[in-house]
Amino acid sequence: MAKDLADNSETDRKGPGHVAVIMDGNGRWAQQRGRPRLFGHHAGAKRVREIVNACPDLGVKYLTIFAFSTENWKRTQTEVAGLMRLFRRYIEREARDLLREGVRVRFIGDRMKLDEKLVSLMDNLELLTSGNDRVHLTIALNYGGRDEVTRAAQRLAYEVEQGRLSYKDVDAETLSKFLDTHVLPDPDLVIRTSGEARISNFLLWQSAYAEYEFVDTLWPDFSAGEFGKIVGRYGVRERRFGAVLA
Ligand code: IPE
Ligand code: IPE
Ligand code: MG
Repeated sequence: MAKDLADNSETDRKGPGHVAVIMDGNGRWAQQRGRPRLFGHHAGAKRVREIVNACPDLGVKYLTIFAFSTENWKRTQTEVAGLMRLFRRYIEREARDLLREGVRVRFIGDRMKLDEKLVSLMDNLELLTSGNDRVHLTIALNYGGRDEVTRAAQRLAYEVEQGRLSYKDVDAETLSKFLDTHVLPDPDLVIRTSGEARISNFLLWQSAYAEYEFVDTLWPDFSAGEFGKIVGRYGVRERRFGAVLA
């Protein structure tokens, strides 16, 4: 069972088929320039396109990016409101290019706390790009790993209560079907920018066997070149999934 869950066999010999990125350091980037934090978030949003476009040549089929965590509501109202406005604008502005570039966009996270206008833009973008298959971009928005597992457990419990599942059916495979990421492979590589070496509640379940790379670059300075180098390094690592390889 554990092996099956960690086995992204289609991808892991060539390179990381699924890369997840904790895009951190926007605030410090702005601070260094004596500008408000939102200036950093706008600069950060601009980097996304370059990284997405670099994926096909690097063999990265799935890219998952952390845009807003369930804990980020603790920031000031000004910053939170500015970020929500930025997400709405980002979708409005980028939708056409994402469609044209063959990017399939998905969102993970709890949509219940997000405003209706944003949620409808997210739904529309998912639908608009649902026929694409060149790169699968997943945006984690109001996402928290613990929150995701908790919501999955709640829905599982409901299925049991309704008599559609037995408690005996609850195993790792069944639980993972209730996660927001149920259609995605597990990430092979998780990158965090800005020098912090922690995962801050990102893809807790899915990253059980992921490789991690922590780099000092602040997200608004993160380039396709650096991304390519990190992805290239991944190819030389040996993943064992708990086994002893011959
Ligand atoms: C990451 O940058 C973006 C979000 C969390 C929305 P930060 O805003 O966390 O930037 P720092 O860590 O304060 O520099
Ligand atoms: C993680 O970064 C969340 C995102 C990148 C969206 P944070 O900056 O919020 O995480 P902490 O506070 O350093 O753990
Ligand atoms: Mg941060």
